[in-house]
Amino acid sequence: MKKVLVTGGCGYIGSHTIVDLLENGFEVVSIDNLVNSTEEVLEGIYRITGKQVRNYAVDLCDRDATSQVFSAHPDFAGIIHFAALKSVGESVEQPLRYFHNNINSLLNVLQCAQDYEVPHFIFSSSCSVYGNANALPVMEDTPWTEAESPYARTKQMGEQIIRDFSEVTSAMRFALLRYFNPAGAHPSALIGESPSNPASNLVPVITETAIGKRPETVVFGDDYPTRDGSCIRDYIHIMDLANAHTKALQYLIDKKPDLRCDVFNLGIGEGVTVLEAVYAFERATGQKLNYRIGPRRPGDVVAVYADNSKSARLLGWQPRFNIDDIMKTAWEWEKKRT
Ligand code: NAD
Ligand code: WQD
Repeated sequence: MKKVLVTGGCGYIGSHTIVDLLENGFEVVSIDNLVNSTEEVLEGIYRITGKQVRNYAVDLCDRDATSQVFSAHPDFAGIIHFAALKSVGESVEQPLRYFHNNINSLLNVLQCAQDYEVPHFIFSSSCSVYGNANALPVMEDTPWTEAESPYARTKQMGEQIIRDFSEVTSAMRFALLRYFNPAGAHPSALIGESPSNPASNLVPVITETAIGKRPETVVFGDDYPTRDGSCIRDYIHIMDLANAHTKALQYLIDKKPDLRCDVFNLGIGEGVTVLEAVYAFERATGQKLNYRIGPRRPGDVVAVYADNSKSARLLGWQPRFNIDDIMKTAWEWEKKRT
């Protein structure tokens, strides 16, 4: 059984990916210092899969402590590096904290990967690397524009660091995965997203409104040049996203591609407007949502969605869920977690 290190394994995307990895025969070890999560999620993973996952509550910025985990597990077949701080707004207020955490943790994990000869590495990147893309859908070779936040810059820098590193590590293969808008929860509702308080992403804002944790959902603008005036995004179900990691790892292991470092878009390839997302919630859950149109949110791009054909072609990955599935599972999770 191949053993995988998942950093940030107690977080939102990491925990769902662990479920998919376990269900596909991988063994998993997690490193997560719990700065934005709790180990309760490991109980949910156990109830879904029947498998215990060990988490090391280690800060990846601590090189020695990180290295000790590798020396206890010198047989990792791959690393999936999720651990990072991810709040766009917070990164604007605390840029140095974001650069320190997201860059130093990456450097330490890469150093350990080299020291312990781990052959496969997957990095959590983001559609935010594209900035305000000029052409849609965005392809992997769509040129980047200026990053919109220090957070987005840590993803651009992370990708560049890995590309340079891949030039000197001939035995290693890297996949950079650019996520669009992950949302939804495991269908069991045993794990899901626990957003910071108050939530700022659209789907948790909607479910928190419907459950009564907040009075209303404000749609940020209806005067954009889109089909109904609200912004367009590519919402990808968390279990589709999780499965793409397993597929990417299997691709690196089985195919050993010539290209040492490759990049993949992970979105469903369709744009959904904010208002369409609101209607999808009402349709999928039978709940009426208290929403109103408000002013635009500064920094929002008008529209972004993925061309995911490369992921389909090379990874053999296809998303299976749509916006209704996202809303349904997010709602089941919201009811469970309160
Ligand atoms: P999350 O906050 O739920 O999970 C990240 C985990 O990393 C947390 O559990 C946190 O405790 C841990 N962590 C952070 N810094 C650490 C450190 N120095 N040492 C050890 N553990 C540390 O976030 P998520 O939504 O699961 O995101 C996972 C990755 O995907 C991140 O790199 C994020 O930037 C990226 N991403 C997320 C989204 C999104 O919308 N959720 C979109 C694109 C990319
Ligand atoms: C989605 C749409 C809002 C809240 C962020 C990061 C990005 C990536 C994914 C990490 C937008 C609208 C939202 C609300 C609203 N994360 N909205 N009312 O901004 O597309 O992307 O998460 O890498 O880097 O920036 O996601 O969920 O905040 O917004 O109308 O209360 O919903 O204007 O059009 P975003 P979001």
